[in-house]
Amino acid sequence: MANEEVRQNEEIASKVHADVHQDEESAAREGESYKLKIFRGDNEGGSEVEYEIPAVPGMVVLDAVLYVQVHQAGDLAVRWNCKAAHCGSCSAEINGKPKLLCKSRVEEYEGQEIRVHPLQAFPVVKDLVSDVSFNYEVARTTIPFQSDEQAPFEMYEEDVERLYEPKKCIECFMCQDVCHVLRTHHKHEEFAGPRFFVRNQWLEMHPKDTQSRLEYLKEGQGGLGYCNITKCCTEVCPVDIHITDNSIIPLKERVADEYYDPAKWLMRKIRGRRSPKTGAPMGRNGNSNGR
Ligand code: SF4
Ligand code: SF4
Ligand code: FES
Repeated sequence: MANEEVRQNEEIASKVHADVHQDEESAAREGESYKLKIFRGDNEGGSEVEYEIPAVPGMVVLDAVLYVQVHQAGDLAVRWNCKAAHCGSCSAEINGKPKLLCKSRVEEYEGQEIRVHPLQAFPVVKDLVSDVSFNYEVARTTIPFQSDEQAPFEMYEEDVERLYEPKKCIECFMCQDVCHVLRTHHKHEEFAGPRFFVRNQWLEMHPKDTQSRLEYLKEGQGGLGYCNITKCCTEVCPVDIHITDNSIIPLKERVADEYYDPAKWLMRKIRGRRSPKTGAPMGRNGNSNGR
C-alpha cells in the first residue's frame, strides 16, 4: 500500500475512533493493561505481533484491535461495519475459534493470552481480513426462489414462523470457517457449506417455491453428502440458528426420501427426473423449468 494511502487510512481511522478512544482512555483502569497478539501478514505468510493496550471495562476485542490500529499500527487491516453484531463483517478467530470481534468482551479472556487471527478457511488478504468471495460464488450456484404466484403470498402462520430462523443469518461465514470439509479438507469446489444449507432449506421449505434443489445438494456442487453432522457449525453461529437440526438434517431427509425410496427410484427410471414439488420435468441443474 502506498505511503500516502496508509496516511489517509490512519487519518480516517483516527477520526472515526477519536471520540470512542477518548472516552475509553479516561475510563481505563489505572495501570492495568491487556496483551494482544495479532496476526500480521497475508496469504504468503506472516506472524503474530504483540501489542499492549490499556484495560477498559466493557471493551470488546474489536475495540482493542482498533486501539492498536489508531495508536500503534496504522496499517493494521481489520474489517468491520456495524459494531453491533448485525453485519457479520468483523468475523475472525480468537484463540483459534471463530468469533465476532465486536461481540467478544476482552474480559472473557482474563488471565489468558488473546490471539487474534483471520478466518482460516479462506485466503488471507491482509492481517485480519480474509477473502470470503468463495461464499458469494456459492451463492450464485444456489437455485433461486421461483413461484407461480405473485407476492404478497397468503401463507399459514406456522409456515411463516418456520421461515424466520434461517432468515436471521448475518453472513458472518463463521460456520463455513469451522466446518472441517472446507477448513481441513479444502472441498471448496464440491461443497457449498453450512451457510448455504441454511439458505437451501429456507428455499426448500418455502410453501410458495416451485423449484427443487435436491439434485444440486446430492449430486451437484452442494455436496451435502460430505457433511457428517458434527454440529461444529451450529456451535459457532452468533444468531443461534440450529444449522444441523433445522437445516442439514431436514435436507438429508428430503434427499434420502427422494433418492433412496425404492418406489420413487422406479418412477424416476420410468418417467425421468421430475420436481418433487410440482412433478414437472427437471433440467440438468435441477430446475423444474427444464434448464
Ligand atoms: S455439521 Fe456438517 S456442515 Fe456443520 S460443521 Fe459439521 S460437517 Fe460441516
Ligand atoms: S448461519 Fe450463522 S454462522 Fe453461518 S453465516 Fe449465518 S449467521 Fe454466520
Ligand atoms: S462489526 Fe458488524 S457484526 Fe461485528
